[in-house]
Amino acid sequence: MNDTTNDISHALEAGVLRLGFDRPARKNAMTGAMYLALAEALQQADADDAVRVVVIHGNEDAFCAGNDIGDFAAAAPSEGERPSARFMKALLRMGKPVVAAVNGPAVGIGATMLLHCDLVYAGSAAKLVFPFAKLGLCPEFASTLLLPAKLGHQRAAALLMLGEPCTAAEAQALGLVNAVLPPAEVLPQALKAAAQLAATSAPSLRATKALMRGEELAGYEARIAQENAQFAQLLASPEAKAAFAAFLQRGKGG
Ligand code: COA
Repeated sequence: MNDTTNDISHALEAGVLRLGFDRPARKNAMTGAMYLALAEALQQADADDAVRVVVIHGNEDAFCAGNDIGDFAAAAPSEGERPSARFMKALLRMGKPVVAAVNGPAVGIGATMLLHCDLVYAGSAAKLVFPFAKLGLCPEFASTLLLPAKLGHQRAAALLMLGEPCTAAEAQALGLVNAVLPPAEVLPQALKAAAQLAATSAPSLRATKALMRGEELAGYEARIAQENAQFAQLLASPEAKAAFAAFLQRGKGG
């Protein structure tokens, strides 16, 4: 199996499912169709014995530029559950190991999804950015719970309130990534770790992952629901609308 559907590439080999963001002209910014394709792929992978581990990757230029800002600007106020919520649920509930290979920018949900991956390998030029407040939004994917818990309130506030970018080296020092590598070595290293996991007892890994997260999983889901409710309101705020318009007008003399 090796194909691309809705800007998400799929390749399954020796128990390792590679899911790649494949929208390079937009730095792999996520559309609704991409979220749904990823959610479906993760759910299927969790149920398919042929898949032992999932590797999520971008290209050497970008991991993922977050939600497509044009889609944010066009979002209707009463849209119900956003496709991103389906993706978050699927990644959160994934019982098998997930490894991320990150080069270039990982922005917004591109950064927050890393908090839910089991192993994260980053290229030396990778950059994690949580720009939600700057965009008139609020953070998501339980990052308001996980980052303060991992880093302490003040360091988390620098990332989540100031939107300070976090370099690969800083992310490693903060415990958000496992290793920093030359860009060309990131995906091979992620695949090497994935191959080791694919050769490890699947029930053992499922039990280990479930135990590592324990009862905290329910807390993450509850926080995600709270964040998503705030997010949906903020999406329609004048501050957010102005930030989206400013981004979309860049380079157009506007
Ligand atoms: N939504 C829509 N389009 C996006 C995008 C996004 N999230 N991120 C990048 N793009 C588009 C750019 O508008 C640009 O389009 P153009 O070629 O028509 O001008 C193209 O992708 C390339 O991006 P560019 O900004 O020129 O590349 P860069 O290497 O200088 O910077 C980023 C890359 C990711 C740092 C920068 O594009 C960025 O900050 N994007 C917005 C990230 C963001 O705020 N996401 C929302 C999170 S909630």
